Amino acid sequence: MSTIARQPLRLAILISGRGSNMATIARDCLQKRIAATVNVVISDRPGVAGIATAQEMGIETHVIPWRTAAGRPEFEQAIGECIDDHDIDLVVLAGFMRVLSGPFVERYAGRMLNIHPSLLPKYTGLHTHRRVLEAGDTEHGASVHFVTPELDGGPIILQSRVPARPDDTESVLSARVQSTEHVIYPRVIGWIADGRLSWNRGRPLLDGKPLDVPVVEDFSDR
Ligand code: GRF
Repeated sequence: MSTIARQPLRLAILISGRGSNMATIARDCLQKRIAATVNVVISDRPGVAGIATAQEMGIETHVIPWRTAAGRPEFEQAIGECIDDHDIDLVVLAGFMRVLSGPFVERYAGRMLNIHPSLLPKYTGLHTHRRVLEAGDTEHGASVHFVTPELDGGPIILQSRVPARPDDTESVLSARVQSTEHVIYPRVIGWIADGRLSWNRGRPLLDGKPLDVPVVEDFSDR
């Protein structure tokens, strides 16, 4: 079984854009609401808002551009070296828009999280808010999960559930879901930092019990 016991837990956050989840997690670390530190923020895209935000918060940043890498192995090698150079306990994907290879993901098994804007296993992939509205669903949400080689398919830890309303636009619904991401993502990282959430042969354990069904937090008032 692997419990990441070190406190503060050392985080690398991988982003590709705005970085609002990254900023929320970093703020919660700085304010000691979670027993962790953001030791490096890595972006595959230069010039994105999240890199400027991280720098303003005094966090070390690295841009490892996908476009200039000779291919995925070289790109992943650079990312892996950067993570390992910073002696990282937990890799946090937060709006990171590159699909990582099976071997790379296996290297960080039980030590890599992602947040996806849907109630997984529904709506893997892109444009989740649009697809929810087109399907006429009445609820939507976000999922924090361990990363496995299957895209958006790893064990789900915590989900937020929000209403999807018929008059919602994609951006209104997206903002509603994102406001809950900023609650559930730091919470899961805090569980790991506090030793409550661990990884046992491909399955999560919460408070010592197998987490076969994700925890769901209701945000029906949003
Ligand atoms: C979030 O909606 C997250 O669910 C998805 O990408 C978005 C990233 O937003 N994986 P931000 O960059 O954290 O603002």
